[in-house]
Amino acid sequence: MSFHLHVRPRRLRRNAVIRGLCAETQLSVNKLIYPLFVREGKGKTPIPSMPGQFVFSIQPILKEIEECIALGIHTIALFPQIVPDKKDPMGSEAYREEGIYIRALQAIKQRFPNLCLISDVALDPYSSTGHDGWVSPEGEVSNDKTLPLLSRMAVLQAQSGADIIAPSDMMDGRVGYLRKALDQADLRHIPIMSYSAKYSSSLYGPFRDALGSAPKGDHVPGDKKTYQINPKNRREATWEAKLDQEEGADILMVKPIGFYLDVLYEIRQITPLALAAYQVSGEYAMFHAAAERGWIDLRSVVQESLFSIRRAGADMIISYFAKDFAVWNRKEDSPQP
Ligand code: PBG
Repeated sequence: MSFHLHVRPRRLRRNAVIRGLCAETQLSVNKLIYPLFVREGKGKTPIPSMPGQFVFSIQPILKEIEECIALGIHTIALFPQIVPDKKDPMGSEAYREEGIYIRALQAIKQRFPNLCLISDVALDPYSSTGHDGWVSPEGEVSNDKTLPLLSRMAVLQAQSGADIIAPSDMMDGRVGYLRKALDQADLRHIPIMSYSAKYSSSLYGPFRDALGSAPKGDHVPGDKKTYQINPKNRREATWEAKLDQEEGADILMVKPIGFYLDVLYEIRQITPLALAAYQVSGEYAMFHAAAERGWIDLRSVVQESLFSIRRAGADMIISYFAKDFAVWNRKEDSPQP
């Protein structure tokens, strides 16, 4: 016995083809950005808290990128692991032409001219304090003393092969400052992807382990709360997004994303700019940890998380799962409906 029911949403969920027609969100590898870590020396080192991820020296990273390109991933976000004895309070290794990061950008660009290479602008991997900016003797992360260092970095990176400059430091005014420096150096064509809403999150642990970049030292703040956004706030994130847009950012970012989908959704309503979301190291680690215990199915949980990020309004997603997603969705592997 069935009773008369005029409206039945289940009609559109009856089979895979109908569900596909009605799907509101698409995701393909051309929306994904794969983060990679580079170091000096030879070989590659696994990152214990990020199963399947490595810190690569230059030769192996070229091989890794070749694999990514074969899978359809054409955008890489590069981060450096700097040896401790090359770190100093000013992060000088960041703007030294012979530094590993600059050499890696050059080598990658030379080998893969069509790759879109996103470079990171912040001092933390290079500074002995682990902070994104310069720390004064009084223990203050100095905004205005940091800006010139960031702009030296950004210009050198763009001259060395970076296609997009991505400041992740959260200093006030850095987007405008970098825009001006890039333009003055004849780099008007280089876009800025700003980490606009970067939260003071507990989800960066595995990344900091990989780079040895956690804040450290006497008279140095033990956290990044004086520059990264308080997780309790959303209006503040929209304010940062508006400022970055006014200062000339081309792409805005929300990071981390899993706990901050509301922030992304809200920024989507107030800007015409392209939006990026960063699924960070702690999110990657949590999914892996649960999957390893057999408590969740990695593949379906990861895809669900990536779709939720698109649904909230991201144009592009930076994710350590980018390569897995590409493998899982290879044309020849996808089941026919
Ligand atoms: C800082 C920076 C961080 C990440 C990338 N750049 C976090 C931090 O230490 O504040 C984290 C990315 C991740 O966890 O995957 N410039």
